Amino acid sequence: MKSMLLQLLRTDENEFVSGERLSEKLGCSRTAVWKHIDALRKEGYEVEAATKKGYRLAGEPDALTKHQLQSRLPEQTIVQAIHHFPSLHSTQETAHQLASNGAGEGTLVLADEQTKGKGRLGREWHSPPKTGIWMSMILRPDIEVKRAPQLTLLTAIAVVRGIKKSLNLDPEIKWPNDILFNGKKAAGILTEMQAEPDHIHAIIVGIGLNVNQDAFPMPLDEIATSLKIEKGTIVNRADVLTAIINEWQWLYELFLQEGFAVIKPLWEAHALTMGKRIVARTPKETVEGIATGIDEAGVLLLRQDDGTLKQIYSADIEL
Ligand code: BTN
Repeated sequence: MKSMLLQLLRTDENEFVSGERLSEKLGCSRTAVWKHIDALRKEGYEVEAATKKGYRLAGEPDALTKHQLQSRLPEQTIVQAIHHFPSLHSTQETAHQLASNGAGEGTLVLADEQTKGKGRLGREWHSPPKTGIWMSMILRPDIEVKRAPQLTLLTAIAVVRGIKKSLNLDPEIKWPNDILFNGKKAAGILTEMQAEPDHIHAIIVGIGLNVNQDAFPMPLDEIATSLKIEKGTIVNRADVLTAIINEWQWLYELFLQEGFAVIKPLWEAHALTMGKRIVARTPKETVEGIATGIDEAGVLLLRQDDGTLKQIYSADIEL
């Protein structure tokens, strides 16, 4: 109901919408409309009321609630269910539990704060309240297990394009999953799987995106940035998230229909590492060379100084 009400209030450039029209469209009494408006106001929505004219949406809070998102997403969307929490240990952990209990493809878990946010390689992900987008999505693609890492690359494209569309900023991707502005990290992606050796049950894609931080605690201050720092103005999280989800939607559909080959050039178009000299630290060894591209599977290709081509499946990359 709140989601439909918001959609109605946003029509016609946020002009006044009459109480009569709202009650007709929502199928409830004018008193009920007033009660819903009152509830929205308590959440921080500025709704003006004028006699004979009706209601007008004059301002929205920076919220990632279910109705805030649902009211912005198109009818055809990758998101099928939204679970929003003020605070969680980790959206990744909650999404894993939901997936184990049968939650379907397109289940999105969001938290305003994470107290045990997880990064790659067992690292911690700093997730203070209401300053970022901390989210995990459950996907259940019918693909081979070895192709799962391609979804990390696909998600990175969705994040970069979503940021470009909503804020006109141009971040770059550092293989496989770091989203950077001038070498400083604004977002990371963590892809985990529930699978058997030959069958994927669920893929949980976690995105951590720093949005409105003004500064970071040490030692993150040296390596992290936020959209607010890059843009120079406060950023509406729901705007950015909606743009990312919309990009994700068509990229994921294309990926399922056509495979990774059509996604690869889009990834390369935003990749920082291509053609550059890099050091790749894998759990087993450290190798150096020129990053020449990714292969059809999404594996990073490194030309070593002796001319041999090395495939890098998982590593920390230094430029
Ligand atoms: C990285 O190390 O770069 C990946 C960071 C991924 C962080 C996100 S925040 C939302 C989701 N929940 C988690 O606990 N981690 C991921």
